[in-house]
Amino acid sequence: MKYYKLSIILYILCILFSNCSQEPPTLTFAIGGAPSEVEYWEILIKKFKEKSNISVKILRQPTDTDQRRQGLVIPLKAKKKDPDVFLMDVIWVGQFAASDWLQPLAHYINKDTLNVDVFFQSIIEQVDMYNKKLVALPVYIDCGLLYYRKDLLEKYGCVIPETWDDLIHCAQIIQKHEKKENPQFRGFVWQGAQYEGLICTFLEFAVSHRGGIVDKNGNIVINCKENIEALELMKNMIHSYKISPPNTFTEMKEEEVRLFFDAGNALFERNWPYAWSLHEREDSPVQGKIAITLLPKTADGKNAAALGGWHIGISKYSDNKDNAWELVKFIIAYETQKELTLNLGWNPGRSDIYDDSEIKENVPHIAVLKKAFEYTAARPNLPYYTQLSEILQRHINACLSGKLSAHKALFQSQKEIERIVDIYHVSNQ
Ligand code: GLC
Repeated sequence: MKYYKLSIILYILCILFSNCSQEPPTLTFAIGGAPSEVEYWEILIKKFKEKSNISVKILRQPTDTDQRRQGLVIPLKAKKKDPDVFLMDVIWVGQFAASDWLQPLAHYINKDTLNVDVFFQSIIEQVDMYNKKLVALPVYIDCGLLYYRKDLLEKYGCVIPETWDDLIHCAQIIQKHEKKENPQFRGFVWQGAQYEGLICTFLEFAVSHRGGIVDKNGNIVINCKENIEALELMKNMIHSYKISPPNTFTEMKEEEVRLFFDAGNALFERNWPYAWSLHEREDSPVQGKIAITLLPKTADGKNAAALGGWHIGISKYSDNKDNAWELVKFIIAYETQKELTLNLGWNPGRSDIYDDSEIKENVPHIAVLKKAFEYTAARPNLPYYTQLSEILQRHINACLSGKLSAHKALFQSQKEIERIVDIYHVSNQ
């Protein structure tokens, strides 16, 4: 009996002792994006470990934003403690906060007397605040850009297009000649597959025609003359002008578009800032031959760049929030943000980086990035945005594939979205 009691005491002491000497649990950080971005996160995380002695396990997510969202919603709905920290697409922050999945950050910010004024305040207010609480911080801001081949414009005496008509005209001429040498060659590549990226492209075409998704009063207005014209133009690029490849609506997402242009097979490309450093890498066939500008508009329309970007947040269910905050703090720090801009060509979320002399010297396109930022068009920040997007993706893509007219696609979208809005309002009364 005596031995029995002694062994129980020893057992308890052993547990207590082992708990005291245990290291804090490893953090799990969910990231995604192009392969080069994922590789860069690995480098940064190594630096973080050296600096803080906090271990981080990287959870690699796919490139496609819809799949990344799904990969986070599953553990969060199940209240899993991992991942502790994650990157969120600009369009999910409000929904994640509404689901109460995000840890408010004010306590940590105050503890470290961190200055949040260095971030673009319009972004913080529109995206990262929920019910007056700061729940996320911007890691980088995305805006849609037009990449073009300087060498080809020069070779054929074309100028940088300001309107869609200019772009079509120039693309048709150059495509006709370049196809003789390279049968794959196309004038303009953009994201037309059925996924979230298609909404960004559509928004840019729509706003450049003076349309959009939400009107001045906050009503969802999809089925209007301007949007129909915009969608017809998208469809014509593939089927009538034939300057965009036939797989635009089946396959073209960010990376497919980027690789097509990268291989020297296109004159113009619609993509986000991340594509810049990849096109400019040493072994890229288009290195030194490219430039970026604003996406075109109609003669009486306006320039538009879809507002994208990724924000960092801490899970409400993390069992390691203090260390999670250390990681967030490291990622949004001046030095890290500068490194991300220098190495990945991203638009940083901190406004102070744009004036850094090293950045200005080494990232010459930063001035265009800042300019495009003035023309950003945001997707609506609505609790039912995912459903709205899914409806639009389906109909717009059906139009691009030739199954629906632009009018029918937008009429149908409007009808189905109104049903979702009604259901949402009834269930919230
Ligand atoms: C980029 C943008 C994001 C957008 C996505 C669409 O990752 O940053 O906001 O939703 O592309 O594919």
